[in-house]
Amino acid sequence: MLISIDPYQVTMGMYVHAFKGSWFNHPFWRPRFVITDMDVLDRIRASDVEAVIIDSSKGKGPESKHPPAAMDVRGSPLPATRSLQSRSWSAPREKVHNREMEQARQIISRGKQIVTRLFDEARLGRLAVTPDVLTLVDDISRSLERSRSTLLNMARLKNKDEYTYLHSVAVCALMVNFARQLGMDEDRVRDLGISGLMHDVGKMAVPLDILNKAGRLSDDEFALVKDHTLSGRTLLEQCEGMPQTAIDVALHHHERMDGTGYPFGIGGAQLSVAARMGAICDIYDALTSERIYKEAWTPSEAIARMSGWTGHLDEKLLFAFMQGMNLYPPGILVRLRSNRLAIALPNGRRGSRAKARAFYAIPERAFIPAEDIPLSDHPAGDQIISLEEPAHWPLVDWSSLQDDILLNRYRPPHY
Ligand SMILES: [Fe+2]
Repeated sequence: MLISIDPYQVTMGMYVHAFKGSWFNHPFWRPRFVITDMDVLDRIRASDVEAVIIDSSKGKGPESKHPPAAMDVRGSPLPATRSLQSRSWSAPREKVHNREMEQARQIISRGKQIVTRLFDEARLGRLAVTPDVLTLVDDISRSLERSRSTLLNMARLKNKDEYTYLHSVAVCALMVNFARQLGMDEDRVRDLGISGLMHDVGKMAVPLDILNKAGRLSDDEFALVKDHTLSGRTLLEQCEGMPQTAIDVALHHHERMDGTGYPFGIGGAQLSVAARMGAICDIYDALTSERIYKEAWTPSEAIARMSGWTGHLDEKLLFAFMQGMNLYPPGILVRLRSNRLAIALPNGRRGSRAKARAFYAIPERAFIPAEDIPLSDHPAGDQIISLEEPAHWPLVDWSSLQDDILLNRYRPPHY
């Protein structure tokens, strides 16, 4: 039987038959599938669709005590009570969102306390991987499982004074998310989370007035700042039970692929995957945070700048990072899993709900009417599978075509 339910009522094991409401709000481009993972569930619950039509003969039925709206054969709701039910069901949906926000806030606040303590212990030479550090990384991991955007968006918000501590928590969350995107096992995910938390511990040796200096650093001051990588290694090496990965990331997160970084100026194959991941997460959080000497950039601006740098970052890993954040440089040419070329659209300030505007069907080698595609990381949805070079495709005058598509002026030939 087809049943219309509120997105909040959707649970694992349900068979999604269709989404109701504007196509633009649909979380997936192919609507019919069984819900088998939490991320899909989270996306549906967080989406702006009016209702989800499930087929209870092919999957689980609704669990709510509230009677769901049965559908007639054409998929239209039968009872006139639908709007009443919508109102009563929107409250719990909001409740779940608020609860997640509150949990994320608590995790970040606890993270700040733990990092502050770690820095103090490091000053006293008593640094240790205590159980609360492991619990924090696990809690961050679980929060990201339930809702990736809630914690990551909140972790960007920090005032100038608390930057150093909250930056460590944010990099921890970014590393966990990145490691999961790369399909790493749980032990590795945890080690990379600890690496994010510890990567700047050497800064406890740098005077605060230099760390927070608004003006340009003198050569001596910059030399002190650079030293935090070496101090971090020394501190972490003395700490029993510290993962080797954390020592590697603390030492190398300011190195660059082209050898222009510090402290050693090494690059390429000399840098581990963990160190390259650390560099990406560190820079992304620094760019998207407000500092004493600069405003915060939006996630879209930050990712656009980072992808424009040549030689600094590992390009393949940077693309995986974008996929993990569902965040792409606006205007960039991409290929979708649905075999279409598209342009990535700017994300909102909150950095969620990535979309791309498809305009070219690859199998037919033909321009098609523009269509905005919500991007998903589930096989049932559409995804960006690669960044593409415009010159490799029959796109004459790419720059004006790009403008036309972005500004909604584009019309395909022969339509
Ligand atoms: Fe650093």
